[in-house]
Amino acid sequence: TKPLRVALAGLGTVGGGVIRLIGANGALIARRAGRPIEIVAISARDRAKDRGVDISRFEWVDDTNALAHHEDADVVVELVGGSDGPALALARATLANGKSLVTANKAMLAHHGLELARAAEAAKVALKFEAAVAGGIPVIKGLREGAAANEIARVYGILNGTCNFILTKMEEEGRDFAEVLAEAQALGFAEADPSFDIDGVDAAHKLSILASLAFGTRPAFADVATDGIRHLLAADIAEAAALGYRIRLLGIAEDNAGGLFQRVHPHLVPTSHPLAHVTGATNAVVAEGNFVGRLLFQGAGAGDGPTASAVVADLIDIARGEFGPAYAMPVDALATPTPADTGER
Ligand code: NDP
Ligand code: HSE
Repeated sequence: TKPLRVALAGLGTVGGGVIRLIGANGALIARRAGRPIEIVAISARDRAKDRGVDISRFEWVDDTNALAHHEDADVVVELVGGSDGPALALARATLANGKSLVTANKAMLAHHGLELARAAEAAKVALKFEAAVAGGIPVIKGLREGAAANEIARVYGILNGTCNFILTKMEEEGRDFAEVLAEAQALGFAEADPSFDIDGVDAAHKLSILASLAFGTRPAFADVATDGIRHLLAADIAEAAALGYRIRLLGIAEDNAGGLFQRVHPHLVPTSHPLAHVTGATNAVVAEGNFVGRLLFQGAGAGDGPTASAVVADLIDIARGEFGPAYAMPVDALATPTPADTGER
């Protein structure tokens, strides 16, 4: 059978994980996908960098954007990052060129997801982004497919692994904010610019994607009221603990008569609530459906293995011929949400 041929842009934490995962589980993946998944070409900034993984068997392409036109590739995997710049140029060129696109880039999707979904529909190819929200947790597939028959009242949860890692290490080990952030960076959890993590912007990117899937609305990142954890002190965490609470950075989206409410900010979570027991870089997402009831998705929200697992799951879908709309329904059928007044922007 004909393999699914992949061009891979970005060979950092996630890109390296994808190479390792396909290398380790290739035979199993081929059986499940119905055909092999083969990386045919790769690109990043620095060809000489030691990536701790053998890349000598892949064709190196200097111009990352040229992967969109690679004659041997059926699908491009974008793992470069950044809402605009090279990632967006590659995504646009890939879809315009009639190739499917898999990306983990929530910043790009929050800003340009609708345009990219429209381009994928026009080209009759797939746009898939399971890895963009909550790392290894299949929450995109969970909402888009598993809960597709439900009216969703609310979706909320812990959407940033770096912040949860910082908050829990500060609480449980009494460690310093800056030191734990440095550890999250060393472990590959943090964004290239970690202010996206600690200022709540990364969680807001993800919330806008989840809200779109949950409510069948166009992504509306500009309407997410956002606050992060930068200003939190060890004393805040200790006082919350003394009162029976833990501090968690939550994203909450709710569609009600007042419009679509989307907020990211630190919350006091009572220790009786399951989200209070989500520690480290783990993420957890709760979705409330009118027939399925309360769903809780929990697992590793960042890191090479879990995120690569989500990327390769998307490749398996494409290898199986499972395309369909990127969001809850085709772009023209998505409603334009009315933002609720959250009292802040
Ligand atoms: P890294 O910073 O580890 O890797 C980025 C890669 O992109 C590097 O290989 C880098 O090249 C390459 N790159 C950067 N700029 C350019 C450019 N101008 N042209 C070509 N290549 C470039 O990022 P991550 O792997 O952590 O993240 C990748 C994406 O996945 C991001 O969108 C991120 O938000 C998302 N993501 C990350 C998760 C994680 O846990 N890390 C989890 C979920 C999503 P070089 O190596 O040569 O410098
Ligand atoms: N920086 C992100 C986080 C990576 O810490 O959650 C996963 O999206």
